[in-house]
Amino acid sequence: MSEFDALITAATQAFQNACAPISNFRVGAAVRAKSGRIFAGCNIENATLGLTCCAERVAIFKAVSEGERGFDAIAVVTNVDRLTPPCGACRQIIWEFCGDVPVLLANLQGKVEQETSGKLLPRAFDASFL
Ligand code: THU
Repeated sequence: MSEFDALITAATQAFQNACAPISNFRVGAAVRAKSGRIFAGCNIENATLGLTCCAERVAIFKAVSEGERGFDAIAVVTNVDRLTPPCGACRQIIWEFCGDVPVLLANLQGKVEQETSGKLLPRAFDASFL
């Protein structure tokens, strides 16, 4: 049992909804708001590849659009052995909306590693520079 179990479970459930007909690479993510609510998302692809949205951003944007601000952890789940870290665009969004938080990388086989968004995006640009 870890304090992140519910988050990883939510990301695993969202993984089942992944819409990845182009890459067949399915991803689920879940972000935990400071309110305690968890918001999950999956990757969503379409024929115009540039419009793909990663699972992490779907989860964060869902939460923000529901009025949540302030998050304390995010999880990313795939079904491959090599744990999948967030892409560069998602690292920026995680940093801007969550700050320096634990990033759980997990797979369906139960492998879990813990990173931090600060380590994944060193010397980040954000609103403090504006
Ligand atoms: N993808 C995510 O959803 N999150 C990640 O952390 C890495 C990549 C998606 C985008 C695309 O649908 C597929 O995985 C392959 O890049």
